[in-house]
Amino acid sequence: MQPVLEVSIYTLLRMAFIWQLVSAVIYIVGSLTIAAFLYDNFKSLISIIKAVLEPYFQPHLPKTLVDKFGQWAVVTGATDGIGKEYARELARQGLNLVLISRTKEKLIATTNEIESQYKVKTKWIAVDFTKGLEIYDQIEKELAGIEVGILVNNVGMMYEHPDSLDLVPEKLLWNLLTVNMGSVTMLTRKILPQMIGRRKGAIVNLGSASELQPLPNMTVYAASKKFVTYFTKALELELEEHNIHVQLVMPNFVVTKMNAYADRVMQGGLLFPNAYTFARSAVFTLGKTSETNGFWTHGLQYFFMKMAPLRIRTYVGHQLFKRLRVEALEQKQQKLGLL
Ligand SMILES: NC(=O)c1ccc[n+]([C@@H]2O[C@H](COP(=O)([O-])OP(=O)(O)OC[C@H]3O[C@@H](n4cnc5c(N)ncnc54)[C@H](OP(=O)(O)O)[C@@H]3O)[C@@H](O)[C@H]2O)c1
Repeated sequence: MQPVLEVSIYTLLRMAFIWQLVSAVIYIVGSLTIAAFLYDNFKSLISIIKAVLEPYFQPHLPKTLVDKFGQWAVVTGATDGIGKEYARELARQGLNLVLISRTKEKLIATTNEIESQYKVKTKWIAVDFTKGLEIYDQIEKELAGIEVGILVNNVGMMYEHPDSLDLVPEKLLWNLLTVNMGSVTMLTRKILPQMIGRRKGAIVNLGSASELQPLPNMTVYAASKKFVTYFTKALELELEEHNIHVQLVMPNFVVTKMNAYADRVMQGGLLFPNAYTFARSAVFTLGKTSETNGFWTHGLQYFFMKMAPLRIRTYVGHQLFKRLRVEALEQKQQKLGLL
């Protein structure tokens, strides 16, 4: 009997050792994963806090956006929604503006409105971003002599309402790709050399929190915003050595005409800020962090969404936009008096 007892004690000891080893590995991997998750999610908040405190410890550093980046800002899609409010907020902070958008009358009205409110210079350029490469040469010509300090690539478009790919008009899909991805790429390419030459400037790209997972019924829109994320994050590192600040802004729902299909969103609320509230908050983060959701409730939403595995996020997103599609169609029929 004695040898059997010795073997079983030895086995027990071995099992205890293996268990200790497995626990240690789980502990280390778990700690590293949590640390990486916390770093990923709080780095933006930490850099904002750091930037807010910096002037108290280093008063010689430039404080205003004009000091940091220059006197002129270019904003695309600046006649409505988030872009218009970005323009207004930048003007409030003393920046001269070049507004680029589609509708001449709205551009004139917006520049007049801003000039009457703030002591800044404005200029507008009317272009349709669904058009080809030539519009970027036109923009370049019209920007001649202007030192662009901040470029806000805001212009973007969505489908009329969430829908499956086979039902979205082909022309609209093509325009969406051209506007959402083409404008960010080409305008940045046009303006970058002058910023690099001065070693000064900021590029702000409006992505979307919809990039966090594939979004059935918003398939092409969400995919185009994923492009904006990767484009911006790669550019940030490319431009580090040139002292150019690159910022990715990823809002959730904001009350603008882009969401006119969803009554629920258009009613507003804590999760659905209006464009003014959103832009004030987002511009506050400019120069302070390279990645933001722009508004605190959107930051919280993004944080909790990120905790779920990709498959679950995709499933939830699919259900949400399926529901929004049905509501949008009902809303449309009601307006036509068919319901
Ligand atoms: N609203 C949201 O919930 C939300 C959420 C996440 C991300 N975003 C992103 O934020 C950005 C702004 O969205 P928003 O909701 O403020 O949009 P919006 O209210 O629809 O305004 C879009 C602006 O872009 C202009 N524009 C549209 N198509 C154009 C074209 N082909 N050529 C030139 N200008 C054009 C519009 O001009 P007109 O006035 O002439 O139409 C308008 O000034 C977009 O990139 C969007 O993807 C929005």
